[in-house]
Formats: sequence, C-alpha cells, structure tokens
Amino acid sequence: MAEQRERWHSRTAFIMAAVGSAIGLGNVWRFPGQAFENGGGAFFVPYFIALLTAGIPLMIVEYGIGSKYQGSAPRSFQRLDKRFEWVGWWAVLVGLMISFYYCIILAWSWQFAYESVVGMLNGKLPWTGAATDGGSDTAAFFNQVLGTPKDDGIGDFNVATMFGLAATWLCVYLAIAKGVHRVGKVVMITVPLPLIILVLLAIRGLTLPNSMDGLSYYLAPDWGKLGDPEVWLAAYGQVFFSLSVGWGILIAYASFRPKDSDVVNNAYMTSFANCGFSFLAGFAVFSTLGYLAAALGKPIPDMQGISGGTLAFVTYPEAIQQIDMAVGLQALLAVGFFVMLLTLGIDSAFSIVEAVAAAMKDKFDVSRGVVVTSLCVGGFLMGLIYCFGRGADWLGITDSYMGDYGLPLVALVQCLLVAWVIPKKKFQELQDDINARSELTTGKLWVFCLKYVTPAVLIWSLVKYTMKLIDKGINLDIVVFGVVPAGAVLILAVVLQAIKTRKDEEGEAPDA
Ligand code: ALA
Repeated sequence: MAEQRERWHSRTAFIMAAVGSAIGLGNVWRFPGQAFENGGGAFFVPYFIALLTAGIPLMIVEYGIGSKYQGSAPRSFQRLDKRFEWVGWWAVLVGLMISFYYCIILAWSWQFAYESVVGMLNGKLPWTGAATDGGSDTAAFFNQVLGTPKDDGIGDFNVATMFGLAATWLCVYLAIAKGVHRVGKVVMITVPLPLIILVLLAIRGLTLPNSMDGLSYYLAPDWGKLGDPEVWLAAYGQVFFSLSVGWGILIAYASFRPKDSDVVNNAYMTSFANCGFSFLAGFAVFSTLGYLAAALGKPIPDMQGISGGTLAFVTYPEAIQQIDMAVGLQALLAVGFFVMLLTLGIDSAFSIVEAVAAAMKDKFDVSRGVVVTSLCVGGFLMGLIYCFGRGADWLGITDSYMGDYGLPLVALVQCLLVAWVIPKKKFQELQDDINARSELTTGKLWVFCLKYVTPAVLIWSLVKYTMKLIDKGINLDIVVFGVVPAGAVLILAVVLQAIKTRKDEEGEAPDA
C-alpha cells in the first residue's frame, strides 16, 4: 500500500523552513570571516559565481528530485538511478557529522546568552575583568567557558557546555519529533526573529564612530586573491554550507511538497534571502569591527579573530564592551546577539537532523519518534567530545574538512551524477519535469553550469587544496577529526547501499 507522506501545511511554510535551514550560523559565524580572509570585496566575485553557477543550479536539482521522487536524499537518488543511493547517504551523513559540532556552537551561545542575562541583572558584563594578565577580557572569558588547557592535554570536561548541548538537542527534538507540521510553525518565529535582531545590530554598528573604515575593508577588493584556488574552494564551500546544498536537507524538505510543486522560483527565493542575510551580517560585523579597531588603535588587517568562534565569542563581545553606553544596555546588546545566534542556528540544526531522520524513516521500518529520539540522543553523545577544553580546536578542524572539503565533494559528485552519469534521457526528463511545474524555467545555462562550469571549478580547486594539505603534513588531530570522519561517512554510505542492494536481490531471487 502506498504510504502517506507528511506534508507542509503551505508553500510559505516550506519556503520559511528552507530559508530557516539556509540562514544559520554560517551567515554570521562563517561568512564575514571567509570574506575577511579571502580578499574582502574580491571574495564576492567567486562567491557570486559559486552562487549562480553551482549553488542555485544544484538547489534546483535537489528541490526537483525531492518533490519528483517524493523521498529523502538516499531514496530520491535511488529512484533517480538505483546504483546511487549511497550518494544520498553520503550527503546526509556529512550533514550529521556537521550537526555534532554545529550544536556545540549553539551550546556556547546558550552559555553566553545566560551569562549576559545574569550580567544585565547585575549591571556588569560577564567578561569584564576576566583577564588577569592585562590581555583581552573576552578572550580570557571565552577560554574560561571552553576550559582551554594550558598545556598540550585535552583540557577539562566542561559541564556547563554539556548542559547547553543538552538544551540544544532538546530543542531539536521538540521541533521535529512531531513532524514537519510543527517545523512549519516553529520557523515562523526562528526566521523573522534573528532578522529583526540583525537589522538592529547593523543599525547600531553603522551608527558607531569609524564604522565606515570597517565597511571599506569589507567591501574593498584584493583582486590578487582571485588566482588562489583556496579562495575559490572557500567560496564554493561557503555557498554549499550556507544554502544547505549537498546535505540532503533540501531533498527531504522538498519531498514533503506535492509532486507538482514549483522548483525554480522557490530556489531563487531561498538563495537570495540567504545571501541578503549574509551581506547584512557582514555590514553588522564589519561596521562594529571598524569601531573596535579604532578603539584599540589597531589597523583592521591586524585584528585577530575575525572568523568563526573568535568572531562571535571574542571579537563581537569585545566590541560591545567598548561601546560607550550604559552597562545594562551593553548587556542587552549581548543578550540580543546571542539570542540571534541561537534562533539562527536552531532551525538549521533541526533541518540537518530532519534530513537524516527522513532518510532512516524511508529506509527502515521505524517510527519518526524512535528515529528522532535516537538521533538526538546519539548527536548529544557524539557532541560530548567537543565539551573538552580542546573542543574548539577540534571543531575548527572538523569544520574545515566537512565544510570546505566534504560538502564541495558531495556537491561535485551530485553534479557529475546528474549531468554525466545517469542516462541523458533521464536528465532531460528531470529538466522537463522541473520546467513543467515551475513559475520560472531552466534552460541551456543551467545545463552548462551543471555539466561544465561547476565540475571544472570544483575539480581544479579540490585537487589544488588536496595537494596543499599533503604539503602541509598531517598530524594526529587532523586524522582523528578530519580524515577519519570524512572517510567513515563515505564508507558507511556505501555499506548502507550494499545492504539495500542485497536485500533487493534476495527479494527478487525467487522470480529469477
Ligand atoms: N545553512 C546553514 C548555515 O548556514 C547550515 O548555518
């Protein structure tokens, strides 16, 4: 009997959920830092090229196959071509691996939000006076939160981070355990709220003295960077990370839409909403940075900690501390910033888990409750490794392998598969189907991007990046947190497909 697939209650609910998945920590925690490190304004060139030639075309593929084949990533790939279920598993497993550390950043955000509320009540910023050696208060405070070890050890286990992690996974559980109907309601809060806070932060940043210096650094291009393959890989990686392309999320989300749903327009709306948010985040961050650099008497290029955790948990709090206003208002600004991070990240976190849950539900005959509970408990346990003092370092390593390497690789394979490996007729069928039900249509350019542009840029930058990694040498941390997880997900994906193929063959045997 044909199963009844869950449904979003409206197109708006689907778009909001897809936008919620796309707009996440990547827009605030990754994008400004990537722009800073990869040529400032010049980074927008590879970024836009990546968006137009790879991000949007692949999003169209993912929405297209999700709604056409009405399945999670593994099931949709299997229905597209039964040899390639493993590609779907690979995508969702890379996503799952990312969720383990993604939720840790949310755990730190809980801690900082909590401490900022306490600070607001006590009339003191939590990090004021944290440095005892005359250094940066916020850096010292972040090290205290992390329990950073002073020696080479792994550091102490951080119980407060563990509670933050538990709170995060509980929220993920509550959002998705009851199905996409509830997800559709949750995103009506988690999408607009961070946007409102970001607009307020951008206004505050832009009205600070010297904010324009920060902005001109953000927008000034360093064209010399465009010849560097790492910059291109970072741009493509950032686009995939940020649009949630290559994680199986969009395929699963689209599978909860009817077969005749729009594809192309939905993809444009999601992508442009996401990129608009990233640019705005850049304005909020760099304007504040301009102010901070002047307050510290440093040129902007000499500023440390513009990327990742340091930006969110050291540099931005430091800027708040420097702003000339009442401490209560500074603490309120801090609360706003961390609540923004939490609401930004949570709908991306649960979308990642939903992609895996949908895949497992499609494959094994288990209820949503059991799958979601196991994933949330498992994810929490896996995340405990990052609760040690060295957690932030390991997080950086896993992120660079999964985000800059794993996702572009999955996206490349998806691209090659659709444009080159499946029979030409099938690809044409997919395009015709997408065009027949979309308000906007795809044409030769879409095919050209999938066939030539994206594979060429990705192969070139991945090969160069790999050569660079080999040159740099590999240490134990990199093996444990980068190479092993990256390899393990691929092996697991192939094993999952092998189990399925064997079961199918056993099922078919009597007729043979
Ligand atoms: N797309 C999500 C983000 O940018 C995962 O954080």
